[in-house]
Amino acid sequence: MNELDSLVESATQLFAQSATPADLENAKAQFLGKSGRVTELMKGMAQLSVEEKKSRGAAINVAKQAIEAALTARRQALADAELQVQLKAEALDVSLPGRQRGQGGLHPVSLTLERIQGIFGSMGFDVAEGPEIETDWFNFTALNTPEDHPARSMHDTFYVEGGTATAPNLLRTHTSPMQIRHAVQHVKKHRALIDAGQAMPEIRVIAPGRTYRVDSDATHSPMFHQCEGLWVGENVSFKDLKVIFTAFCRTFFESDDLVLRFRPSFFPFTEPSAEIDIQFQTGPLAGRWLEVAGSGQVHPNVVRNMGLDPEKYIGFAFGMGPDRLTMLRYGVNDLRLFFDGDIRFLSQFQ
Ligand code: DAH
Repeated sequence: MNELDSLVESATQLFAQSATPADLENAKAQFLGKSGRVTELMKGMAQLSVEEKKSRGAAINVAKQAIEAALTARRQALADAELQVQLKAEALDVSLPGRQRGQGGLHPVSLTLERIQGIFGSMGFDVAEGPEIETDWFNFTALNTPEDHPARSMHDTFYVEGGTATAPNLLRTHTSPMQIRHAVQHVKKHRALIDAGQAMPEIRVIAPGRTYRVDSDATHSPMFHQCEGLWVGENVSFKDLKVIFTAFCRTFFESDDLVLRFRPSFFPFTEPSAEIDIQFQTGPLAGRWLEVAGSGQVHPNVVRNMGLDPEKYIGFAFGMGPDRLTMLRYGVNDLRLFFDGDIRFLSQFQ
C-alpha cells in the first residue's frame, strides 16, 4: 500500500472512531485542516518539477477526495444515528388502545327508586317529593306521634337549627310527613268539590326520598332512603293495599310466586298496623320471611290532619326501604357499601 492509500486508510479509521460530530471535526482537522496531513503533502510539492507536480498533485487530489468522501459518509452516519436515537425517545406506541371516557351509570339505589316509581306509576300513583329538613309538626305531631314517643329523642333524631323550642326543625326520620304534605295540597286543590259533598279524586301517591336517623351499622346508615305510599278515598280497603303491594313486590322482584304476609304491628299513624313480610319460593332467599315495609289504615287523627273527615274518608299507607329492597334484589349484605362511593362496587350494577 503506498503512502497516499495508507493516509486515506488512517483518515477513514479515525473518522470511524469519532463517536460524535465534534470528534469528527477534530479528526477532519488532522487531515484537511490548515496544518493537516493532506495540506502538508501539498506544501511538500514546492520543490518538484512541473511534470512531477502534475502527477503527484493529481494523486494527492484523489486521496483528498477519498478522505472528503469518507468524512461526508461518516457525518451522514452520525446524523442518521442521532436521528434514530431521537426517534426512539419520542416513539409513540400506536398499538396502545385509546383512552376511553368512563361510562357513568345510575346508583343501584337510584335504579331501585326508578323501578318503584315505574311500577307504582303504572298503577296510577303520583310521585311527590318533599323537604328533607322537616318541622316537628309534619314529622311527628301531625302523624299522631305522642310528645313522649322515643323516636322523638335526640338519640334517634337529628335536630337542626331553626324552628322554635316547641316546634324544632329536624332531618326527617321517615317519608311519612309527605302523607300530610301531599294530602293537604290535594285537599286544598279539591276543596270546592269536597265542600259540595261530591267525590274527591282519590289520593294515590308515593313519596320517595332521603331520610335520617342517629344510627349506623351494617344494616343502618344515618342517611337512608324510604318510599312512602298513601291511598285515600271513600271506598278503599285493606284488600286494595294487599293487592297493590303484592303486585308491586312480584313485579319488583320479577317473581310471580312470591307471597306476602301482613304481620300485626304498631305505628302511631296507623290503626290497625302491619309489617309486610315477603317470602321467595325460589332462589337463595327462598323460604325466609323478609320484612320489607310497614303499613296500616291511616289513623283517624291523621286523616283529620289531612283536612278530611275520617267518617267519610279512609286511607291506607305504607313505608318501605328502597335500600333494603336493593340489598335483597342484588344479594348485597352490607348497606354501607352503597354509600362508600367505591366505583368497583357501584359499576357492577350497570
Ligand atoms: N314511617 C315508618 C317507619 O319509618 C314506616 C311506615 C309504617 C310508614 C307504616 C307507613 C305506615 O306509611 O303506614 O318506620
